[in-house]
Amino acid sequence: MENQFTKLLEERRSIYSLGKSVTLSEDEIVGLVAKAVKESPSSFNSQTSRAVVLFGAAHNKVWDITEEVLLKAVPEGQDFTPTKQKIESFRAAFGTILFFEDTSIVKALQKQFALYADNFPIWSEQSTGIAQNSVWTALAVENIGGSLQHYNPLIDSAVQAEWNLSADWKLTGQMPIGSIEAPAGEKEYMDDSARVLVFK
Ligand SMILES: Cc1cc2nc3c(=O)[nH]c(=O)nc-3n(C[C@H](O)[C@H](O)[C@H](O)COP(=O)(O)O)c2cc1C
Repeated sequence: MENQFTKLLEERRSIYSLGKSVTLSEDEIVGLVAKAVKESPSSFNSQTSRAVVLFGAAHNKVWDITEEVLLKAVPEGQDFTPTKQKIESFRAAFGTILFFEDTSIVKALQKQFALYADNFPIWSEQSTGIAQNSVWTALAVENIGGSLQHYNPLIDSAVQAEWNLSADWKLTGQMPIGSIEAPAGEKEYMDDSARVLVFK
């Protein structure tokens, strides 16, 4: 069986060919991001997930930071061209959403509920994944494509300094978003019967 929601889930794909021709306003995009993060579940309703939405010069800046950091990290003699091209493709997008988890809340919960201390960081990582998927799907429904990138922790300190963010906010993902300039590639699926087991 399918329903409205599962059909919407299908619309979310990793889109790597992104452009700036979006029809939604920046405010509308921010509104969708805020609502999608707000309605995403978190352990103990701890609401640890945060998002920073970058447009214009700020969007370019995060990819400048990434390029700079990667250039320093690349072994001498290694061709930087493919990496540079990849970053250029993210720069070509309309904006970037940075996802974070507020570790101050995680630490407070670990103190408050010692029995679950080991679980809170895991649940926090799960929460950011749920929030990312909510945002990714909400935007896909509006024909805005995106992909999920992980240049953290390499870029963490530069990002924190650039936007004066709390040191408690742990960067968990970067999502370039924009108009869909080329569709997602074919996706292979494993068999549902191996994925979902049913017992009665
Ligand atoms: C936890 C997680 C981490 C991922 N990390 C990356 C990444 O660093 N770079 C990237 O291009 N895609 C990343 N992806 C995207 C996956 O490669 C992609 O979702 C998967 O191949 C399925 O394709 P689809 O998104 O088009 O459905 C990540 C996805 C998940 C769920």
